[in-house]
Amino acid sequence: MSTFDLNRIQRETCLRHVEYHGTLDSTNKLAAELLPNLQSLCPALVLTDTQTAGRGRGSNSWWANTGALTFSLVLKLEQLNLAPARLPLMSLATGVAVRNAIASLLPADSVMIKWPNDILVNESKVCGILTEQTSCDSQSVLIIGVGINVNNSLQGAPAEVRQRATSIYDITGHSYDLTTLLVNVLNAIDVSVRDLCMRPHELLAELNRRSLLNGRAVTLQVGELMSRGACSGIDENGALLLDTGSGPQAFVVGTIADWS
Ligand code: BTN
Repeated sequence: MSTFDLNRIQRETCLRHVEYHGTLDSTNKLAAELLPNLQSLCPALVLTDTQTAGRGRGSNSWWANTGALTFSLVLKLEQLNLAPARLPLMSLATGVAVRNAIASLLPADSVMIKWPNDILVNESKVCGILTEQTSCDSQSVLIIGVGINVNNSLQGAPAEVRQRATSIYDITGHSYDLTTLLVNVLNAIDVSVRDLCMRPHELLAELNRRSLLNGRAVTLQVGELMSRGACSGIDENGALLLDTGSGPQAFVVGTIADWS
């Protein structure tokens, strides 16, 4: 028996297909494998109750146990009406959407976006987003993987995960209806993507309002190189702006090594 009300998810969102499995290694991995079938059914969702080998950014993995909300949204680029230059902002637009959906369950000001794709509550990570671009039959496709620690407790998680992550249950002591949260997240992503197409400046302003790193001292790792500086925001290309010793610089990629 699924945790999710699959009929309701179809009814209350603009999805054309929901691919549900009780247990999966990775929703992003299955989405990529099923692309030949899914690409004619976009927007499609790959959803599971329990993900056993979640993928994170780079070579990272994503630890989750049952009660987390883990899914991948499969979108065809041609359906999005998005200028190619705005594509790198899709992950950040998803972040704004997920942040807003989570913020409705918690004190809103405690929920922030950490560039490039994490959602933190009181500076602990509750959500990671992994956006992968691929193609199938010469069609460009985006697989947006979202993992939110909701009703799962991280008490049993490996120490290195517990150090930097938490769950909504661990914060509030309450459990939440995962179907309702998923429907809210999917509809918020829909709104955010429309904003990115039609009102990019408003979306960028909201992103900067909710950006954890703005005004903070940040250390960014790009390959072997460490850059340090005060963060002055996220620009219209989705780049992180740091005022470094050698002047202002915009970083399109990188990993936040530290912030204070
Ligand atoms: C990160 O923080 O590095 C990104 C984590 C992304 C995790 C989600 S969970 C659903 C989807 N399937 C995966 O294998 N990964 C993403």
